[in-house]
Amino acid sequence: MTRNGLSRRAFGLLTAAALALLAAGLSRPAIADRAEMQVFKSPYCGCCAEWVDHMRTAGFSVRVTNMEDMTPAKAHFGIAPDLQSCHTAVVGGYVIEGHVPAGDVQRLLSERPQASGLSVPGMPAGSPGMEQGERRDPYAVILFDQKGARSVYARY
Ligand code: CU
Ligand code: CU
Repeated sequence: MTRNGLSRRAFGLLTAAALALLAAGLSRPAIADRAEMQVFKSPYCGCCAEWVDHMRTAGFSVRVTNMEDMTPAKAHFGIAPDLQSCHTAVVGGYVIEGHVPAGDVQRLLSERPQASGLSVPGMPAGSPGMEQGERRDPYAVILFDQKGARSVYARY
């Protein structure tokens, strides 16, 4: 482990994911929507595992990398503090932060807007992986880029 708790292997995966993002940005049409997703999460996060199940059920092929400390991953993928949630995922050249519904990720991959990705900030009750009985917090899925542009992609 390095000083900041990021293992060498996890760092290698982060770098590979960043390179994949770069490649996707450079040659979008060449990369098909294979819907292969890489998820970075804490090994102790139960709701993260629930969200991974949600994505797999929706047909995504998901690879999980557990990290003791998610802070370096948030910095690596440029997730602003107010957009942060528990897990961070990469799919089709986009970053997916938090409990984003699979349907919105599918729409993102088919529409392919100019953006970094989608976020559901925090962990709203009732979002995929955050089911808590009858409780449903209203929440928005935010489309964001690295320059600070944001828009509402969906509302629940
Ligand atoms: Cu969570
Ligand atoms: Cu999570």
